[in-house]
Amino acid sequence: MRVAILGGTGAFGTALATRLREAGHHVVLGSRDAERAAAAARDLGVDGATNEDAVRDADLAVLATKAEGALETARALRAAIGTTPLLSVASELTFTPAGVLPAPDAQSLAERVQAELDGPVVAGLHSLAASTLGGEEAPDEDALVCGDDADAKALALELAGGLVSGRALDAGPLASARALEGLTAVIVNLNKRYRGHAGIRVTGLP
Ligand SMILES: NC(=O)c1ccc[n+]([C@@H]2O[C@H](COP(=O)([O-])OP(=O)(O)OC[C@H]3O[C@@H](n4cnc5c(N)ncnc54)[C@H](OP(=O)(O)O)[C@@H]3O)[C@@H](O)[C@H]2O)c1
Repeated sequence: MRVAILGGTGAFGTALATRLREAGHHVVLGSRDAERAAAAARDLGVDGATNEDAVRDADLAVLATKAEGALETARALRAAIGTTPLLSVASELTFTPAGVLPAPDAQSLAERVQAELDGPVVAGLHSLAASTLGGEEAPDEDALVCGDDADAKALALELAGGLVSGRALDAGPLASARALEGLTAVIVNLNKRYRGHAGIRVTGLP
């Protein structure tokens, strides 16, 4: 699969690129800056390009920019992304003295990204931390993906299945993204409280 990682120069994008390359996918690491993309990509043994060029021949685009830049990036790349399926991994979080809070918006970030694009948006991988994703072994976790478009979701589930030693699970329609994005806040709070690296394993499924 040809995968473009938009905002791929960050912690999550570089960890994802490493796992995807190892799984045999063709990865193009995207950035707002071509030189930054090229430098990061060289270190990882993948290709690098501007976000706009990265997405051109992709089978799947992963929107892995800092969450605050996700909507703006989708809006700016609408023409370049076209009808290419896009996987949104972003969670908007608010850090407070009482803990990490999920976004207060009624609509998930992924649904708002969908409103900016012509192609199908799916959401997932929110519970996979960059640090574990980039480790020696595939994370001993499940990966959750949701979306309304069956083909786009199947593609994202195929990609997710190669990232973890657990299962890639279909978590329902794109509206579930609100819960998946909020789950990141729960995981960060667990990590702070127990000083660990929490991940998700779903039980009770056949
Ligand atoms: N870190 C994790 O453990 C983790 C886990 C699950 C999901 N996620 C999600 O994955 C995404 C990336 O996480 P990260 O930790 O890798 O983030 P990050 O390092 O803060 O940012 C990733 C990249 O986003 C680009 N960027 C920054 N500000 C931007 C803006 N205003 N507009 C467009 N692009 C911008 C930068 O790339 P250029 O400057 O090169 O363009 C940066 O390298 C986030 O949305 C996060 O919610 C992260």
